[in-house]
Amino acid sequence: MRVLVTRRIPAPALAILRDAGLDVDLAESGLDAAALRERVHGKDAMVCLLTDRIDASVYDAAGRSLKVVANVAVGYDNIDVPAARERGVIVTNTPDVLTGCVAEFTWALILAITRRLSEGERLIRGGGWKGWALDFMLGSELSGKRLGIVGAGRIGRAVAEKASAFGMQAVFSSRAPGSMPLDELLATSDVVSLHVPLRPETRHLIDRKALARMKRTAFLINTSRGAVVDEDAIVWALQERLIAGAALDVFEREPQVHPGLLTLDHVLVVPHLGSATRETRTAMAELAVRNVIAVLNGGPALTPVA
Ligand code: GLV
Repeated sequence: MRVLVTRRIPAPALAILRDAGLDVDLAESGLDAAALRERVHGKDAMVCLLTDRIDASVYDAAGRSLKVVANVAVGYDNIDVPAARERGVIVTNTPDVLTGCVAEFTWALILAITRRLSEGERLIRGGGWKGWALDFMLGSELSGKRLGIVGAGRIGRAVAEKASAFGMQAVFSSRAPGSMPLDELLATSDVVSLHVPLRPETRHLIDRKALARMKRTAFLINTSRGAVVDEDAIVWALQERLIAGAALDVFEREPQVHPGLLTLDHVLVVPHLGSATRETRTAMAELAVRNVIAVLNGGPALTPVA
């Protein structure tokens, strides 16, 4: 059985594939769309990344041998799942193994933006620090404030679990009945953190209207997918000081970042690092290859997408 791995993945995961007796075609440095279609031909399985766009043309290029596409990510908006289903191809993702890692990272962003860490560091590196002063670079405290979590899935709930450690009250807005309406969450939260998957109904969920509803003292945190936020709208809201700041790990057109964001001091931008620890990236790749092996052995996938 032949497996295409669309880019280098951690060595322990590759070893699992090889130990299972699979013929691994590793595209060390990644593949563009045309090269991906060429390399996938005749493969039984594919291990891919969120930077690969997997659509009908890829399944058709693979041909009837393709049984499973294992995305090394929990989000799978890069994959056309209905088109896979039509062709009997199983799609898997990597839930659970990154939950704690992304929750920790979300708190890193919350603390960093409310206490102006990147802004302060830029100031020192730029030679602009004139010395301590009582009213210098004041931030906002978390204790006693409300954390509004949009999306009550695994990661959102893990972020909420740590809220009491900072004296924050966590509220949720989700599709679940009984959760807070999004408008109310936006209007009453001091920190709004996004934890929804990117789907047609969540694209630009945070648009101009949503941002205008937020408190002027509130912060927006995004570790989900860039397109959940309308990037033009967030630039506008920050320029108009409709919100106090934003910490963004994900962007609409990665690796491009809206140039407007880079001119503003009350924005923290980081390059999609939410799950980027050695431990978690290895666990994600291992789960992806175990999904491949499970399906090629004729069993059910471990973590098929819903
Ligand atoms: C990373 O962004 C993931 O979806 O796992």
